[in-house]
Amino acid sequence: MWNGERSKVYSRPILGILSVTAILYLNFGDKIHFPIILWQPKLSFIGTNSSRFVDKGNGEFFFVNGWNSYWLMEESVRASSRSKVSEMLRRGAEMGMTVCRTWAFSDGGADGSVALQIYPGVFDERVFKALDFVIFEARRYKIRLILSLVNSLNAFGGKDQYVRWAREAGVNVTSSTDSFFSHPIIKGYFKNYIKSILKRTNSFSKVKYSEEPAIFAWELMNEPRCLSSSSGPALQSWIAEMAAYIKSLDQKHLVTVGLEGFYGPKTIERSEVNPGQWAASLGSDFLQNSATEHIDFASVHAYPDSWIPNATLEEKANYLLHWMDSHISDGEYVLKKPVLFTEVGFSLQGKKQGLYDRNLLLKIVYDKIYESANKTQAGAGALIWQLLVEGVEQYSDEFSLVAWEHPSTYKLILEQSCRIRHMFEKGEMNRKIHHSGPCSGLSY
Ligand SMILES: *[C@@H]1O[C@H](CO)[C@@H](O)[C@H](O)[C@H]1NC(C)=O
Ligand SMILES: *[C@@H]1O[C@H](CO)[C@@H](O)[C@H](O)[C@H]1NC(C)=O
Ligand SMILES: *[C@@H]1O[C@H](CO)[C@@H](O)[C@H](O)[C@H]1NC(C)=O
Ligand SMILES: *[C@@H]1O[C@H](CO)[C@@H](O)[C@H](O)[C@H]1NC(C)=O
Repeated sequence: MWNGERSKVYSRPILGILSVTAILYLNFGDKIHFPIILWQPKLSFIGTNSSRFVDKGNGEFFFVNGWNSYWLMEESVRASSRSKVSEMLRRGAEMGMTVCRTWAFSDGGADGSVALQIYPGVFDERVFKALDFVIFEARRYKIRLILSLVNSLNAFGGKDQYVRWAREAGVNVTSSTDSFFSHPIIKGYFKNYIKSILKRTNSFSKVKYSEEPAIFAWELMNEPRCLSSSSGPALQSWIAEMAAYIKSLDQKHLVTVGLEGFYGPKTIERSEVNPGQWAASLGSDFLQNSATEHIDFASVHAYPDSWIPNATLEEKANYLLHWMDSHISDGEYVLKKPVLFTEVGFSLQGKKQGLYDRNLLLKIVYDKIYESANKTQAGAGALIWQLLVEGVEQYSDEFSLVAWEHPSTYKLILEQSCRIRHMFEKGEMNRKIHHSGPCSGLSY
């Protein structure tokens, strides 16, 4: 078994500026029986300047090519499977990607997952150490994480679990899981969760989560919907309250909502951009929700294969172009905040030329981001949903892939990473990185 107690950390200031941490890294669970000395790379926080992300270390604009692997914490609970997580982060970095979005929640364990939060405010230390490991490893590979704090869906507990906890505690809550957004006791549970995460000190690095530059941003919730309040006020006030709460505890990190990006009833003129009439009545509202104070950037998903399943490839392509243009333009001119496409997924299922279709649609996304980056506009990046490594097929869904098993898709991802890097990484040091890093041999 992984033995966290054997990890020893030394920390000392060098020249009073750099704080470099050497980690003695012992893993007696593997066949390797010798210690490995690791250094925590220096990494800067990401901020915003109007509609752009900025690397606070060098002041340069920061455009994102990244991916989702929601399963990293779960897979880190057992020592024997942690190498899969390291491999995913390493291979993501090899593809030139800089940001990974993953779950920093697992509530109740009712669906058979290993719970981080067993009951409100009660944590499984073993699982918290797994999250520590994910963050520590991400830093090692210079990958920044978007950490989502709760699910709107039922997987890994979600808002449903919070409402169940309240009912089990004798609280008079309505049967709707949407009381998650409005009941003071449930909001209290969630705030307590936020606080426990933000105040956590990583057992490997001894860095507090709220001080950890390998965290790109906190995401309030994965794909919030609030159907019982379809005109939106319940979700809107919850976003405002929770974003302000995070900022009261952590001023270093960016905060986003986690929206799918549907336009709500307040922006009826944009409803034709939605994938269908249904999308306006889910209780979310892209513009209003994203405009909230303390929300630093907007999040948008894109799933033409499930949103407009019967459309032709050409119709999906046109839909995707329009969807991205509209949101990037809103970010630039209405919100004045970066817009990150935090999930873009394309299915191969039931298609004669699935790979061709996926590459075509993915290329549309990447070209839009590249075009936006070239104009330093609000389209700040895209994160493919979702990547796996061999041996973690249990986390697969119809949109998942082991990228290197599909060389044409792999190449698209790598080229996107490199052309975006090349655009913004100027200077001697970065040129050196180009010569030796994942982008060596590629020219733009
Ligand atoms: C934001 O970017 C603009 C344009 O590059 C620059 O002039 C300005 O100083 C930046 N503002 C901050 C606060 O960094
Ligand atoms: C529970 O709340 C509802 C309305 O919010 C109220 O009508 C009902 O009387 C309450 N039940 C109890 C047992 O307090
Ligand atoms: C797509 O087509 C199937 C089969 O013809 C149909 O059952 C389904 O309702 C259609 N879906 C949409 C969103 O139109
Ligand atoms: C990027 O912008 C420059 C002008 O600033 C333009 O000449 C070039 O064609 C653009 N490239 C792309 C791919 O849009």
